Formats: sequence, structure tokens, C-alpha cells
Amino acid sequence: MTSNKVALVTGANKGLGLAASRHLAQQGITVLMGSRNAAKGKAAVKLLQQEGLAVEFIQIDVTKSEQIRKAAAEIKKRFGKLDILVNNAGMVSKEEPLVSNSAGEIKPRELRKVFDANFFGLVEVTQALLPLIKKSGSGNIVNISSILGSLALQSKDSEMAAFKPFAYDASKTAVNAFTVHLAAALKDTTIKVNSAHPGWVRTDMGGPQAPIMPEEGAKTAVRLATLGPDGPTGKFYYGDDELPW
Ligand SMILES: NC(=O)c1ccc[n+]([C@@H]2O[C@H](COP(=O)([O-])OP(=O)(O)OC[C@H]3O[C@@H](n4cnc5c(N)ncnc54)[C@H](OP(=O)(O)O)[C@@H]3O)[C@@H](O)[C@H]2O)c1
Repeated sequence: MTSNKVALVTGANKGLGLAASRHLAQQGITVLMGSRNAAKGKAAVKLLQQEGLAVEFIQIDVTKSEQIRKAAAEIKKRFGKLDILVNNAGMVSKEEPLVSNSAGEIKPRELRKVFDANFFGLVEVTQALLPLIKKSGSGNIVNISSILGSLALQSKDSEMAAFKPFAYDASKTAVNAFTVHLAAALKDTTIKVNSAHPGWVRTDMGGPQAPIMPEEGAKTAVRLATLGPDGPTGKFYYGDDELPW
């Protein structure tokens, strides 16, 4: 299957980003695999190229404005448009375990570090690429969020409410706010903007106990990345299930 679509996946050198890149490339989409580390990024690209997939390396540390600008210029020059943006790059703070509630003590410096990668970087990447996404006939922006960022679930007696690493959760709540606001800003265009929760996935971030493998976990993002023009926008999904904000 071939397509003339071009996608960018950030944080694509491992985990969910690598799996999403594989799924998209298997659909004939040219995938630019973003990685902040050139050696790791190129190794991941090589792996998928050996599977016969059309993928390329592009260097993006989402916290580095200069790299974001350079990547956008390169995509403009090479392709003149971008059809799919999967904002996948993300981190957790080593200072807040998943089962902690760190709101009372997380250091402002650490809070800023997590927000820089998970939120400010994601917004900056999206804004830099928006002119190119507008050139696509039907652009799709997928923000990889987390169910832990759902205020509706965190604020009641839910299974999720036990997991309150504040910097991480709040950064994903902010990502969800960006999804809602950007979708509204683009409502008169064909561009869809949605948040995806991948499930609890066995990656370096999710840990070895996680029950879902990355190939499975990436499916929500891939579905949202390949929505047609009549698809939903401004929503939060896990699989086909809509999650509460
Ligand atoms: N795993 C889960 O259970 C789970 C659940 C809900 C949501 N998520 C979300 O899913 C996304 C992917 O996570 P994952 O589980 O695949 O984690 P992962 O295996 O730790 O991968 C994270 C990726 O993000 C990259 N990254 C981190 N900071 C970056 C930066 N400043 N610039 C560019 N890339 C950066 C990492 O690059 P390096 O290799 O250079 O560090 C890596 O490629 C994240 O947004 C995460 O919050 C994961």
C-alpha cells in the first residue's frame, strides 16, 4: 500500500513512538521519525527500513526551539506539507514515582522540566508545523496524553486517582487543554486535533509490569492519526472509547 502522506512522530526512537511509526509506515505513509539523540534515532530508522518501510530520521529535541525551527524548514523544503503530527515525546520525573502524590513537595525546577518536555515542547512543535499541516488536504494532530491527566477521573474515587505524580499528570492535563483549544481554533478547517491515551504500556516509561505491548498501545494514536475528514476532533480516546477530560 502506498500513499503520498507524510507524518512526523516525535520521540520515535523507542517505545510507543517507534511502534506508531511502524504502524503508519505499514500503511504506506512516509514517516519522519523524530529523535533528540541522533545515534538512537538513526538506529530506530534503520530497524524499520530493514523491514522495508519508508521512514527517515529527523532530529528534534522538543525543548530546543532551534531544532524545531530547523526541522520545520526541512519538512517544508522536502515535502511542502505535513499530513500527520503525532506528538508522542514525553517524560516522567525521576523525583515522583507513579504511586506518589507529589503536589505538596515537587520542586518548581522539576515541575518546569516536565512541563517543558510534555507541554511547552509539544505546543511549540505543533505551532511550528501548523502552516505545513494546513497545506495538507486533511491534517491530523494527535497529542499523546494519559488517562492520568483526566481531572474528571482524578477528582473522584476512580482507579486512576491512586496515581498522582503531579508534574506528569498536570502536564498531560495541560496537553488535553491544548487539544480542546486548538481543535476549536481549527474548527473551520479539515484538521483534526485529538488526545490519545495508549493504555499502560510496556516501555521504558511504563515499566516491565505493564500489560500492553507498544504495538498494541500505539493503535489509538494511529487510528486518530489516520481519521478521515468526517472524523471527530477535540476529543480524548483510548481505543474507540471516549475518555472524560
Ligand atoms: N507507557 C505508558 O504506559 C504510557 C501511558 C500513558 C501515556 N504514555 C505517553 O506515551 C508517550 C510515549 O511514552 P513511552 O511509554 O513510549 O515512553 P519511552 O519509551 O520512555 O519513550 C519516550 C520517548 O520520548 C522521547 N523524549 C523524551 N523527552 C524528549 C525531548 N525533550 N525531545 C524529544 N524526545 C523526547 C524519548 O527520547 P530518549 O530515548 O532520547 O529519552 C523517547 O523517544 C509519552 O508521551 C508518555 O507520556 C505512556
